Amino acid sequence: MQGIETVSLAGKKIILGVTGGIAAYKAAELCRLLVKAGANVRVVMTAAAQQFVAPLTFQALSGKPVLTSLWDAASGDGMEHIHLSRDADLLLVAPASADFLAKVAHGRADDLLSTLCLARTCKLAVAPAMNREMWATAPTRRNLEQLQADDVSLLGPTAGDMACGETGLGRMLEPADILTALPALLGGGTLAGKRVLITAGPTFEAIDPVRGLTNRSSGKMGYAVAQAAVEAGAEVCLVSGPTCLATPAGVRRIDVQSAAEMRDAVLAELPADVFIAVAAVADYRVDAAAAQKIKKSDAGLTLQLVANPDILGEVAARSGAPFCVGFAAETERLAEHAEAKRLKKKLPLLVGNLAQDTLGQDTAELVLFDDRGTHPLPRADKLTQARHLIGHLATLLN
Ligand code: CTP
Repeated sequence: MQGIETVSLAGKKIILGVTGGIAAYKAAELCRLLVKAGANVRVVMTAAAQQFVAPLTFQALSGKPVLTSLWDAASGDGMEHIHLSRDADLLLVAPASADFLAKVAHGRADDLLSTLCLARTCKLAVAPAMNREMWATAPTRRNLEQLQADDVSLLGPTAGDMACGETGLGRMLEPADILTALPALLGGGTLAGKRVLITAGPTFEAIDPVRGLTNRSSGKMGYAVAQAAVEAGAEVCLVSGPTCLATPAGVRRIDVQSAAEMRDAVLAELPADVFIAVAAVADYRVDAAAAQKIKKSDAGLTLQLVANPDILGEVAARSGAPFCVGFAAETERLAEHAEAKRLKKKLPLLVGNLAQDTLGQDTAELVLFDDRGTHPLPRADKLTQARHLIGHLATLLN
């Protein structure tokens, strides 16, 4: 069985730029995580950032002096801003304030960090953090458009409670989520350059405007698979039924309700290199959902159900089909049912599990079925299992 095959940050030279905002305290945790992942981190702070966190914090975490001024940095040949950026694999600014984004969008270079951004030859990624009104305002929108046109990668922001007491979009992505998104930016993972399409969660089949048929899938496994695929460097699109889960960083998510909507969204996203059908798609829908709320009656109620399209079966049968991976949740005779499903849908890889042991839980015990046989994955958290699955898939694919 393959080990965990995610892109390592080991040896990657990352410049972590910290600008002035309360989220600067979270950049300390980000710095710690980057160092823990093996990256070689140089921290550059703006003057405003130093109002929030002392450079000594970052010096202790990165193990290197923090650079704070264009003029201090000029102690050598005066070209520190050129040397630093030439040497780096990635320039990551987190948090990136509204003011800093404006500066970079306009190509200004009036301090060390903005000069590095302008002089760089490496990839630039920014994790914005600001009040929701500042995020939504027209000048910031214009600056973001410009940054994207200039191939600057945007990580977040996310929605939630803010230091100013308001709630909304503008909060910096959590450090762990920023870390997850980095391998895709750095390239070179086992799924680098691959387009991976994933379905997740339950579907909801309407009975009338207020009722419907659904199932107990939480979506946790599908979301973990999406995260593991991003970590392996893939471009990931997640077609999700209704869940309460946050989208993993770096994943593009399309929300759907019914199996029919899920099918349409999946077909519209083809072609893809890999299709992983994790969703618990309802096998049946109500033949004709009522336009108005159905009133109760002593006579009882009979619903006429019709079969839903088999999304995985349809995708796998197409000419030029992606590498298709199915999931089978069984309540008994797992090996027998799972292998039968794999052969019936002509899948190179199928993931089997016992539904009663997995549904809604944070851990899972899985078995992978492929042409070479079975590969058990002993119980572990779903992200660990997803990473094993992606590692195994990558070896079959490559
Ligand atoms: N699947 C799909 N579209 C459907 C039904 C299932 O894409 N309409 C996918 C699931 O995402 C999963 C696999 O097919 O990857 C499950 O196979 P299948 O046996 O068709 O689904 P079950 O409903 O679990 O089968 P059964 O109820 O007979 O056990």
